[in-house]
Amino acid sequence: MVQNSNEILRKILAAMRRVPPQVYAPGDDTFLMIDAISTLSVEGKNVLDLGTGTGILGLYCALSNAHVTASDIDELAIRYAADTARLLSVELKLIVSDLFSNIPGQFDLVLFNPPYLPSEGAHDGTVDGGSGGRDLIIRFLEELPNHLQKDGSALLLVSSLNSPNTLRNNYYSFEFSTVAKRALFFEELEVLRVRLRNDLSI
Ligand SMILES: C[S@@+](CC[C@H](N)C(=O)[O-])C[C@H]1O[C@@H](n2cnc3c(N)ncnc32)[C@H](O)[C@@H]1O
Repeated sequence: MVQNSNEILRKILAAMRRVPPQVYAPGDDTFLMIDAISTLSVEGKNVLDLGTGTGILGLYCALSNAHVTASDIDELAIRYAADTARLLSVELKLIVSDLFSNIPGQFDLVLFNPPYLPSEGAHDGTVDGGSGGRDLIIRFLEELPNHLQKDGSALLLVSSLNSPNTLRNNYYSFEFSTVAKRALFFEELEVLRVRLRNDLSI
């Protein structure tokens, strides 16, 4: 039986042990991604959670009966996610990878809550998104088409700090739609659903 989204989230948070300081602890951006995922049906889908951190987004999908691969560039994050998956008796395929570099196959849904802060304001690699906070986002968008199944899509978190309209205008091969949005003190967060225009029915 598929549980409702609050129950699933509560279950994951209750299972999580203390998050080591090097691993990104769930924040407003994480929970906005959960809101966005909960608008889709992921049951039976092949999902990739890139930059999984604690594993929370991948675990949420796995507990919603998706087949999940979760990856991160940081080995400690992968070990932390593996421990939580074990405590929840959930199956996750975990891979250490710089973005898609070690990820085989194609997916129905790719999740990415990237490091998106401009380097000047970023204190570590879990949040440092490079110039304008967009370097990882741009690499992600360049590589994404090779990793989507036909009719697949991605959920990508962006901030107003990343000039999302410029991103939309620079990537005409994608259709972007806003699935969830939240205004914070100094920025606005948005989860974009990203689909290849070729896959959209006319
Ligand atoms: C903002 S955190 C998001 C963590 C988690 N997905 C969440 O929503 O709470 C960004 C994550 O991306 C990972 N990351 C940074 N650079 C990466 C890269 N080049 N390839 C894969 N993961 C990366 C970081 O280690 C971190 O866990």
